[in-house]
Order: sequence, then structure tokens, then C-alpha cells
Amino acid sequence: MNRRTPRLLIFDSGVGGLSIMADVQQLLPGCAITYASDNAAFPYGTKGEEELVQRVDAVLQALIQTVEPDVVVVACNSASTLALPHIRAHFKVPIVGVVPAIKPAAAQSRSKVIGLLATPGTVARAYTRDLIAQFASNCTVISLGSSELVQKAESHLRGKTVTTESLRELLSPMFAHPRFAEMDSLVLACTHFPLLRPQFQALLGPRITLVDSGEAIARRVSYWLEGLGLSPDATSAEHSAIFTRHSPDVEGLKPALRVLGITRVECQTI
Ligand code: DGL
Repeated sequence: MNRRTPRLLIFDSGVGGLSIMADVQQLLPGCAITYASDNAAFPYGTKGEEELVQRVDAVLQALIQTVEPDVVVVACNSASTLALPHIRAHFKVPIVGVVPAIKPAAAQSRSKVIGLLATPGTVARAYTRDLIAQFASNCTVISLGSSELVQKAESHLRGKTVTTESLRELLSPMFAHPRFAEMDSLVLACTHFPLLRPQFQALLGPRITLVDSGEAIARRVSYWLEGLGLSPDATSAEHSAIFTRHSPDVEGLKPALRVLGITRVECQTI
């Protein structure tokens, strides 16, 4: 076992991947994490597929050179459901993708009516349709793609209040589904959404279990580190963040970044 501190690169369009970072830190506190937000190209969930694959490739190319990570986490469903085959073929470093937790949600659902809350891109992907066909063919899946909810999570992390009323309005197409009353599990298939977990739970009540991929991703990272012979040391590791564009908006995020132990914030224009 190599005792040096493992280096992780966790990457998303915006702040969503911080929900994944929190789960990774929980399981693997001794890793040095660089969190990267491609704020220059945010949001990803409404981008054309070709443009998005090219962007993710270009950003990873630059960031992998800067960070030299042992493992990369593409902490974004919109990017992972599209670009994983391409980037895994292109880069040698192990890449962990975040994809909708449809399998566990379908398995745990008693009513076999589940919800899927994601970006418009993730809802429309062939990858997501395949996941549903493979693991939830016995379920009714009530899907909703919303970029506005992504914005809400961004605001929340900048200290703005997100009201239950505003979430109720954005979820209204889901509430209007004829089988909504039977829905007992909701897949949070955008990494931004677990950042609003308490607000969603307050709105939806205890009947609906919220399911996300965070813990599974942390286990997957652990698996790769073991395979590389790297063991996170017990001492506290340093974390940093990279944004791909200078923006006054980044300042408002610093308190939320500090909560996760991110003290150094840099800009790398890509
Ligand atoms: N957090 C991202 C996801 O998991 C995407 C948000 C966006 O940029 O649209 O899909």
C-alpha cells in the first residue's frame, strides 16, 4: 500500500458535484480533493449532445494536466449519461461517472411508481431510457427535466432562500401525473438536487424516499483507490476549487466551499 495522499478531481458544470464531494469525504476523509466547476459553460443540462461531449473532453484535458488526479469523478449526470464512453477511451486515469440511481429506486419501491428528477438533457438521453428499460421495466416512471431547479440549487448554495412554494411550482408537472399519489421513491438524478434534499423532503413528505447516487459513487472511488494501491491517510487533507471563468458569483460560494474544507479557490480559464 502506498501511503501518499490520494488526489481526486471531482468535476461538474456548477456546484452540484459538491453533493458528491460531501459523500466522498464522508467515506474517504484522507483524500486531497480538487473540486472543479465549469462555470464558463454552465449549465450542461440544456446543451446539445455534440457540444457537450466536446466541452467535457476539453475541460477534462486541461484539468487532468493541472491536477494530475489518481481518480476523476464526473459528478454530473448530464455529462456522464452522454460522454463516459468517449472520455474513458480518451483518458488513461480511472473515471467514475454519476448516473441516475434508477436501479436501487425501482428495487426498493413497493408501489412500483417512481419519479425521476433530472435536467432536460438527462431525461432525454438514450442512456437513461436504457436504464429504465433494464432496471425499471416493471415500474411507472414519472420523469421531469428542469433546469430551473438547477438554478435554485445554485442560489441556495449562495445563501439565498429557496421557498417550498417555488419548488412546488417547479414540480407541478410531476404532481399532475395521474399516478403521482402512488409514487413512493424519487430519484434525484442531477447532482445539484441533493443540495436541496431537506426542502424536497419537506415538500414531498415522508411517504416519498429520495434516492441519489452519492454513497455508491464514494464506494466506487474507494474501489479504484484500493486497486491503485493507494490508501487515504488519516491526517486531514487539503482541498481546493477551480472555476473555469472569473465571475463575481464565485465569491458568494466561498462560505459553502469552506464548509467542505475548500480554502483555496482558483480560476483556470478554459
Ligand atoms: N449537476 C449536473 C447534473 O448532474 C448538471 C446541471 C447543469 O449544468 O445543467 O446533471
